[in-house]
Amino acid sequence: MSMTTLLRQRKSRTASASPETALLLEAAGHVLVGGVNSPVRALRTVGAPPLLVRRGRGARLWDVAGRAYLDFVMGWGPLILGHVHPAVTAAIRRALRGGTVLGFTHPEEIALADLIAGAVPSVEQVRFTASGSEACMTAVRLARAATGRRKILVFEGCYHGHGDTLLAGHSAGLPEGLAGDVVTVPFNDRRQLAAAWAREGRTLACAIVEPVAANMGVIPPVEGFLQDLRRLTTEAGALLIFDEVVTGFRLGWGGAQAHFTIRADLTTFGKIIGGGLPIGALGGPRDLMRRLAPEGDVYHGGTFAGHPVSMAAGLATLRVLKAEPPYDQLARLGTRLAAGLAAAGRGAGVPVQINQIGSMATVFFAQTPVERWADVHRADASGFGRWWRHLFGRGIVMPPSPHEAAFVSTAHSEALVDRAVHASAAAFRACAQEQA
Ligand SMILES: Cc1ncc(COP(=O)(O)O)c(C=O)c1O
Repeated sequence: MSMTTLLRQRKSRTASASPETALLLEAAGHVLVGGVNSPVRALRTVGAPPLLVRRGRGARLWDVAGRAYLDFVMGWGPLILGHVHPAVTAAIRRALRGGTVLGFTHPEEIALADLIAGAVPSVEQVRFTASGSEACMTAVRLARAATGRRKILVFEGCYHGHGDTLLAGHSAGLPEGLAGDVVTVPFNDRRQLAAAWAREGRTLACAIVEPVAANMGVIPPVEGFLQDLRRLTTEAGALLIFDEVVTGFRLGWGGAQAHFTIRADLTTFGKIIGGGLPIGALGGPRDLMRRLAPEGDVYHGGTFAGHPVSMAAGLATLRVLKAEPPYDQLARLGTRLAAGLAAAGRGAGVPVQINQIGSMATVFFAQTPVERWADVHRADASGFGRWWRHLFGRGIVMPPSPHEAAFVSTAHSEALVDRAVHASAAAFRACAQEQA
């Protein structure tokens, strides 16, 4: 059945949706797997149908029926300046006048690499990729080549994209035996970390970590955790890869490495450095990066690597961040949001833990602090789903899973944050009433 026929024939499966939304949802389910192109967008964790959006501006999103929402997903992280920032949009327009994909090195690749290297002291050279996943899988390949070792160490609950090794144990269809190459340690568990290095350290090519976990909800590192990791990797002759796809240019101009004063051997980037267009990058010292082709024997290449329009959008974004650093303001907004949400939960008698650092935050329906994957796992996911749906009904879009980070951008004002807190208080009260 063609989509057009389907649109004509099918009736609404979502009684409350507008007829156009209902038809599009049907069509989406017909021609896209699960109605989406990335699983979390299906909103299954919160028991809702996929959200069909038309456009965004500033801190707002509009769905296909024209309903406006206050957005805390912000494209899952890239939009630190909000939707349709004028400087970014103008740069994209200018870039488009020169062509879409040019096939050779162009000045904006050099300029963006130079800005990144200037911001993150451990980075001397950069290789751009088309996604964060690609950057992480290439960084691991480089670490294996540089050390001549095969195994890698990862942390429970961290996400580094969908490269095979980095998905070991989390997907069907991976090569048999892959899991044997991956040592997994609970994030923030210094004792188990030390034990793993004592046992396996000399066989490990690298450890890869989100310096602030953002894919099991926001979990900042406990005191000493990243320092231990730096020391243990150095002692074992393994590389430390900081996956700063989320934290890069978000925790501050120098990312997590500046924030925690730790130098990684390799760093991966994505999201913000593309200003809302597809991008990824890895960076490190020249002698290490030179192992990549064409200088060295580690292959990476891509038709869209260093895409001119992504470069232009990223460059415009980073130039704004450098000229008018928003980080203090973003941290104030993040703190205001977290404090407001905590008070709202308390006021309604709903036990919640709010994890927040800078402009990133997550609400966990939990009685006790959430510092590890096991804590995340114990939290009440169905309570979160109820809260999300009540909030959504009040025009606020929070990330539809307690495994994702909510983001504030420079387009979020105090008044908008307060609006979300106010709506959240009502949502918590509604949850409490349902529980009673
Ligand atoms: C920390 C981290 N690393 C890597 C990735 C993968 O990036 P991409 O989705 O651009 O492939 C993500 C995506 O959310 C991420 O959060």
